[in-house]
Amino acid sequence: MDIDLADLGFWRRPLKERNEAFARLRELDRPVFFPERRVPLLRSGKGFYALVRHADVVEASRNAKVFSSEPAVTNPEPPGWVKHVFGESMVNMDDPRHARLRRIVSRAFSPRMLAGLQDGIDRACAGIVDDVVAEGPGDFVHQVAARLPIHVICDMMGIPDGMREQVHRHVDVSTAYTGVRPSLPQTLRMAGQNMLALLALQRMVIQLGKQRATAPEGDLVSALVTANVDGERLTDRELGSFFALLLVAGNETARNTMAHGIKLLTDNPEQRRLLAEDFDARIGGAIEEMVRYVSPIMQFRRTVTQDYDLRGLHLKAGDKVVLFYGSANRDEDVFPDPDRFDITRETKGHVGFGGPGPHFCLGANLARQEIRTMFRELLTRLPDIRSVGEPELLPSNFDNSIRTQPFTF
Ligand code: HEM
Repeated sequence: MDIDLADLGFWRRPLKERNEAFARLRELDRPVFFPERRVPLLRSGKGFYALVRHADVVEASRNAKVFSSEPAVTNPEPPGWVKHVFGESMVNMDDPRHARLRRIVSRAFSPRMLAGLQDGIDRACAGIVDDVVAEGPGDFVHQVAARLPIHVICDMMGIPDGMREQVHRHVDVSTAYTGVRPSLPQTLRMAGQNMLALLALQRMVIQLGKQRATAPEGDLVSALVTANVDGERLTDRELGSFFALLLVAGNETARNTMAHGIKLLTDNPEQRRLLAEDFDARIGGAIEEMVRYVSPIMQFRRTVTQDYDLRGLHLKAGDKVVLFYGSANRDEDVFPDPDRFDITRETKGHVGFGGPGPHFCLGANLARQEIRTMFRELLTRLPDIRSVGEPELLPSNFDNSIRTQPFTF
């Protein structure tokens, strides 16, 4: 077979070709094993089984006792010392450690907290569109999509205005790192810059945590560093790791959904007309369809803890499996005519926010809220806004990232 998912070069191939490759893998009766290559700076293992069907991704997500998120869900795996420098993030933990952290940080995502963020999201979206009107057509990623999610995360955490520019700068550096790097010197340079940026972000929020622990305000940092009724709170290191996780998990994903979203609405004028006809009734379905179609996170990994039979495949303790969300979201058995963008289709069960189970995206409702408000503002105030030409994609095996998307209105 000429498909090699372990070869980072695969992820530079056009999306259409990659989708065709996954369609062929889905036709096979069991998951295929891909031996791993050595990747500079990253720990290489023997290889992984690719879970490409919806049912397999769901089974592995749901059964976290057998399909562990430790030691890490990224693939290839970061070297062990990274954990010592940066601390651990909950996405790479199993219960009970994961459950404890999730319990504490879930406070930030309660319906009441999310409702409290809405005014700030409204204001941010209005400000973004004011600027777009003043600046004129250009790059949708830079002028629109990249601006909202980070703003919302900073609002949530209570990051003071004076620190925000620094946060933006560091986040831009670490965002650039997620791509597939063409050469070793470039890999080394970007890895170094990424680590410094992440460390700087962690230091900033830890500093803030110390201030808020003694003088709490109504923000999330205060809530996380002061004890709740059960006496639980985050340590400095945990706070630093959580902030880094939010910036990685909640920033790129929402921005890429919006940037792909404007292109999908432009390329499918009949879908856009449907949405414009009854925005409130159809935007929910449109967002789920965007997340299904785009699959902003393309893969996460699990490590098998005990011998297990998965669709006739005998897995052994220590085997790795990689969950290909984009492929599961195009599984013909669940989503008929999967390459059609259809905002009225049944999207229930899509795995764009992860499969069902303990790690299901904590920020899914926040992402929905951001995307809904941004598109409402855009389509109401700039009714003929549209993408122009093709996006420049950032080759990556991890996120479906858009570097630039020209647009006009
Ligand atoms: C369209 C936008 C988004 C997509 C597609 C997305 C996707 C995902 C996926 C696939 C996972 C599952 C990880 C796993 O099973 O191992 C996840 C987890 C997570 N997401 Fe999101 N996400 C989005 C937005 C956000 C936002 C806005 C935030 C917060 C500001 C966020 C915070 C998190 C966190 C904290 C986790 C870890 C949960 C855990 O390990 O228990 N996400 N996300």
